Amino acid sequence: MRVVILFGTEMGTAEDTAEHVADALAAHDVSIYDMSDFAVEDLDVRAFHVIVCSTYGDGDLPTGAEPFFEELEDAMPDLTGLRFAVFGLGDSVYGDTFNRGGEIASEKLIARGAIQVGAHGRHDAQTDVRARDMAREWAAALPIPALAPA
Ligand SMILES: Cc1cc2nc3c(=O)[nH]c(=O)nc-3n(C[C@H](O)[C@H](O)[C@H](O)COP(=O)(O)O)c2cc1C
Repeated sequence: MRVVILFGTEMGTAEDTAEHVADALAAHDVSIYDMSDFAVEDLDVRAFHVIVCSTYGDGDLPTGAEPFFEELEDAMPDLTGLRFAVFGLGDSVYGDTFNRGGEIASEKLIARGAIQVGAHGRHDAQTDVRARDMAREWAAALPIPALAPA
């Protein structure tokens, strides 16, 4: 199955995490993009999308994810049938806004008709578990159909 990994980051942790998700999904046809370099028109409803996104400000999307989601709001594409999973990054020290970035990403895609599948990952920077390790385990459990045999 074609898997498109999109990461939204401020300081690079989500990028590193996304690279480890790509490793864990290497049995698929995986490509990986910074959301700041990815156009909404390149979303493909036939591909499985994985969003890896941190949280900044007061429960906001990271700077790297903002242009993509602004374009999504403007273009209002019909994403009916697009399946995606979300691994969010945050820090529970921020209380109520914990992991809002990944949640906002999910809400905006669902609003366009996309379907979220698998567990919603929420890494907490307060824990000793590294985001990349948690994400690898999370990715291995995603319900992505296997590549069709050649
Ligand atoms: C200025 C600042 C604001 C943040 N705000 C939040 C927040 O509101 N909620 C949250 O869960 N995490 C928040 N975080 C934590 C980051 O999301 C977390 O450290 C994440 O791992 C960073 O990933 P990145 O390096 O990919 O941007 C904040 C971090 C910083 C430095």
